[in-house]
Amino acid sequence: MSADSRARSTKDTLISYLEYLSHYEKDLYLDSTPDFSALDAKQAASHTENSISGSLDPYPAHAPYKSLAEMESSIKGCLRCPLGSSRNKFVYGGGSSEAKVVFIGEAPGAEEDKRGIPFIGRAGKLLDHMLSEIGWSRDEVYICNILKCRPPNNRDPQPEEIAECELFLHEQLRILNPQILVALGRVSAQTLLRTKAPLRDLRSRLHKYQDKPFWVTYHPAALLRNQNLMPTAQQDLITLKKMVEEGITEPDSLI
Ligand code: URA
Repeated sequence: MSADSRARSTKDTLISYLEYLSHYEKDLYLDSTPDFSALDAKQAASHTENSISGSLDPYPAHAPYKSLAEMESSIKGCLRCPLGSSRNKFVYGGGSSEAKVVFIGEAPGAEEDKRGIPFIGRAGKLLDHMLSEIGWSRDEVYICNILKCRPPNNRDPQPEEIAECELFLHEQLRILNPQILVALGRVSAQTLLRTKAPLRDLRSRLHKYQDKPFWVTYHPAALLRNQNLMPTAQQDLITLKKMVEEGITEPDSLI
């Protein structure tokens, strides 16, 4: 390579890195002192204690991080929304960093909040069983949620919480770079696809989220409530496995 083209390639790399950073400028640095008006005094104090200088965001959603472990350790103390102050454990996600498939639920429940691991309660056990029926285990896929902290009484995620936490999901997906994403349940699907369409209209076709193919199936907790849905849900996973094996990523090529 000539000195000229080496210089050009260094310049191009530098420009694309600066462009990349500029996308996330807002997440890296707060323009002004954070607005704590929505927080109570205890939460606001805890925010201030955790912020490094008062102007640097202590939990940047896009560092960019080099690995899931690096990202988890730097954001696990997150207090970007009030759920940070009520959680027991931050539930980052778990599974293989090489996973081709990422399952996305809505938010941790009581058991997950206690142990810091996603989908380990009754619904999680059912998910494990359904994965084993198609010859997969949770160690070879990746499982996470839109929110990393448990909402009180398992209520639906609120728009302000999603606005803060979805940025973490984006970065997590950037690091993982899976082949396909799977929404577990209506709330996850509707939230990520920005739609109010019912689950029955969202299943059985491929959507896109963050430029990745996005499949929708039932939440295992819904299957616990209505066992009649089980065969259809299992069929969703069989189709998912087929798409992964055949490298199907485009809606039109779905069998
Ligand atoms: N429900 C979810 O959506 N996520 C979990 O991690 C557990 C239950």
